Amino acid sequence: MTIISFANSKGGAGKSTLCLLIASELAHAGTNVLIIDADEQQSCSQWAKRCRDAGTLLDAISVSRASTPEELKALLQESTAEIVLVDVQGSMNKMLIAAIVASDVTIVPSKANVMEMNETVKLFEWAQANLKRAPLRLVLTRVDGIDVNTIAFKDAVHLIRKNNLPAFSTFIRSRKVYEQFSNNAGSLATIAKDPSKAEQVEKARANIVNLISDISELLKTEREA
Ligand SMILES: Nc1ncnc2c1ncn2[C@@H]1O[C@H](COP(=O)(O)OP(=O)(O)OP(=O)(O)O)[C@@H](O)[C@H]1O
Ligand SMILES: [Mg+2]
Repeated sequence: MTIISFANSKGGAGKSTLCLLIASELAHAGTNVLIIDADEQQSCSQWAKRCRDAGTLLDAISVSRASTPEELKALLQESTAEIVLVDVQGSMNKMLIAAIVASDVTIVPSKANVMEMNETVKLFEWAQANLKRAPLRLVLTRVDGIDVNTIAFKDAVHLIRKNNLPAFSTFIRSRKVYEQFSNNAGSLATIAKDPSKAEQVEKARANIVNLISDISELLKTEREA
């Protein structure tokens, strides 16, 4: 079983959306995925409920809630899923620490601006100082095509380099179909049923598949080490 957490001490970076996108892609590929919703906002549980009600929840996805670190541990112990994805609240708390400690890798989604990146730097520094072994990987999220040429984006990238933050080379673009996905019911494949969205969905899914491939590479390297 592989455990992957989505965590950042700052809210709104796109953790839940990314967690659900990855879960959906893995499930489409036939992998059994358990999402543990460890955020009291219950974004993932609410998405799953919408999908269940609409009849679009993939069989390979199950969702459980954890309100305490103990509940999280118990769910992890009893899970038979191939991959467990843990979605955590966007603040520094016991649950975030428990999720990082339990995970094979923690994905830290972060928007590419200096204010967000300063918070992200603090989380990496904290993990390095306090946890023996905790692979954290930054993923730039909600990156707008236009943003990449701005000074704000370059400053954020400079902060990543200056602080030697380990980051995945794939970044997640800001896309209307991701927003639609997280706020509606179903996977990206459901959205692609609208022919006018099919091309956007294809690019959006490729973006997620590339990130999953980066994550698999990292897990392979970690296991060999
Ligand atoms: N890559 C993206 N492109 C466009 N919109 C996005 C993207 N990622 C997230 N969003 C939108 O941004 C909002 C916040 O995303 P999300 O809920 O995933 O963030 P979060 O980090 O889980 O927030 P919280 O800290 O509150 O749990 C949502 O409305 C979502 O649809
Ligand atoms: Mg969330």
